[in-house]
Amino acid sequence: MPLSRRKTLALIGGGTVLTAVAAFGGFAATRRPHNAVAPWGLAGSYDDPRLNALSFALLAPNPHNLQPWQVRLEGADALSLHRDPSRHLPETDPYDRQITIGLGCFLEQMVLAAGAAGHTVDLTLYPEGEGGAIAQAVFGQGGTPDPLSAQILDRRSCKEPFEDRSIPAGLVAQLARIAAVYTDPETVSALKELTFDAWMTETMTPHRMQESIDLMRLGKSEINASPDGIALGGPFLESLMAVGVLNRKSLADQKSTGFQEAIRMYRRMLNATPAYVALTTATNTRLDQIKAGREWLRLNLTTTALGLSLHPVSQALQEYPEMTPHYQATHALLAPRGHTVQMLGRVGYGPKIAPTPRWPIEAKLTHG
Ligand SMILES: Cc1cc2nc3c(=O)[nH]c(=O)nc-3n(C[C@H](O)[C@H](O)[C@H](O)COP(=O)(O)O)c2cc1C
Repeated sequence: MPLSRRKTLALIGGGTVLTAVAAFGGFAATRRPHNAVAPWGLAGSYDDPRLNALSFALLAPNPHNLQPWQVRLEGADALSLHRDPSRHLPETDPYDRQITIGLGCFLEQMVLAAGAAGHTVDLTLYPEGEGGAIAQAVFGQGGTPDPLSAQILDRRSCKEPFEDRSIPAGLVAQLARIAAVYTDPETVSALKELTFDAWMTETMTPHRMQESIDLMRLGKSEINASPDGIALGGPFLESLMAVGVLNRKSLADQKSTGFQEAIRMYRRMLNATPAYVALTTATNTRLDQIKAGREWLRLNLTTTALGLSLHPVSQALQEYPEMTPHYQATHALLAPRGHTVQMLGRVGYGPKIAPTPRWPIEAKLTHG
């Protein structure tokens, strides 16, 4: 499927995550980065129950697809999960709150996959306190499959416009068991404004935006060499890269036609949103963040099971000075009792999306 002129323009102008995924979905067969997506096909092919569960866990959603996990296998039946200290987002996630949420998603997916294979997981979070491992896990026999585990390979973050149809009340009720769901036109409209204004603040603040640009993988060989970050590729884009039109410099040029088109595309995408969801916690400890990640993963698997699409839109929740007005407005709307909004997302009926790259589990094992 060739990229439309509109999508291409947006990419040249720094379309960020929205168009990155559109591009990835549009790869022609010859330019598809097979190596980068190979871990989706390898999930479930390991004999060791821990590696088997980890091969699914690493497909979890995580901010900017940084995959900040490191795992140490311990003895015959245990493992510890660590945060890779080299993988962080200092400009947009200065307190590692979102990174920690991503690790929560990883843990929940690991536990679900273990259960589906007939194994229990005895999980201890922060066994040595917050300075040490994120979790220690001891695997045993006898887990029961959770139906949500069947959705792991189909789950996506869908960064696309959604169809112009509302979500039936019965499905809203199922989502509402996990998250707050906003479908009333007034709140949805307020959230469209807030999420757009927040995204604009990040996009128009060069040193914050640069963090995303630095994480873009331009073309098949970069994507295969670093199967993480934001993948931009496909035959047409690669031809633009070859002639020097599409590069990290052009992606940062606010004056370009493409940049302006990217802004219009983002606005149009947000407008095509029938509902928002939010996860809040009363306090904002590391344990709260892990819990929010586990819940987000379950929410994303539930939307998948229900035929719905989910897209995190996190800018308004980020903790840096330029974002403060949007942070405060979002919290006044969604968490008026001083709670913390850990995740905010769009939900609706979106198109089918290709899987994003992953490092294989072997690249994430540490020894000693
Ligand atoms: C804590 C967290 C925050 C995220 N924030 C955003 C966001 O603001 N915008 C966005 O497009 N995607 C966001 N994502 C989605 C990631 O980009 C996505 O999970 C990653 O690229 C892997 O893609 P996948 O979820 O389709 O497997 C977020 C994910 C997590 C876990």
